[in-house]
Amino acid sequence: MEIFDPRVQHDFVNGIVEGKDVKISKKYYRDAKHFYLNPDASLADDTLMYQVYSYSEGNSEQVGNLNWGLTVLKPVSVNQECNMTRGHFHENLDCAEFYFGLGGEGLLLMMKEDGTCFAEKVFLNSLHHIDGSVAHRLINTGNEDLKVGACWPTIAGHDYERIEKHPFGARVFKKDDELVIEEDK
Ligand code: PA5
Ligand code: NI
Repeated sequence: MEIFDPRVQHDFVNGIVEGKDVKISKKYYRDAKHFYLNPDASLADDTLMYQVYSYSEGNSEQVGNLNWGLTVLKPVSVNQECNMTRGHFHENLDCAEFYFGLGGEGLLLMMKEDGTCFAEKVFLNSLHHIDGSVAHRLINTGNEDLKVGACWPTIAGHDYERIEKHPFGARVFKKDDELVIEEDK
């Protein structure tokens, strides 16, 4: 038989996924400022907020196919609010997702369809099962890059509109080095 080199390598320590078919998307402050309670005019529009590596093979509409991902969320804050991903429901609510912590410290904020929010702590080696019907967002609460791996079905899709219409009811701030959670009443 033939023995092949792997097509992709995931450097778990340094937080890089490399290889053919790996896509990289970068989120800059200009496209993220509306996530925050109080946008910070002093933060440059080209500040890198987070970067997502994703990799899959084959037909993305084929049930059973998987995506592999890595999110690297920078330790930036916006008027004391911790940096976070945009957050989404899956378009296909039958599709669950695994997240796993690879470095840094943070929270995985989740929201049920009825609006109830809850969170899990994220750190090196933490593993998170995200139910298909639950919206999810990563928040960097530490002072270094938060690195989180992910695996989910290619047919899951990302529904961002639903989050714009019904935002997460909790926000996370760091004030004088203390985490402060503000929840909708
Ligand atoms: O599929 C996922 O849940 C992740 O790969 C996210 O897409 C990633 O963390 C970036 O978050 P968002 O898509 O909400 O901007
Ligand atoms: Ni997801």
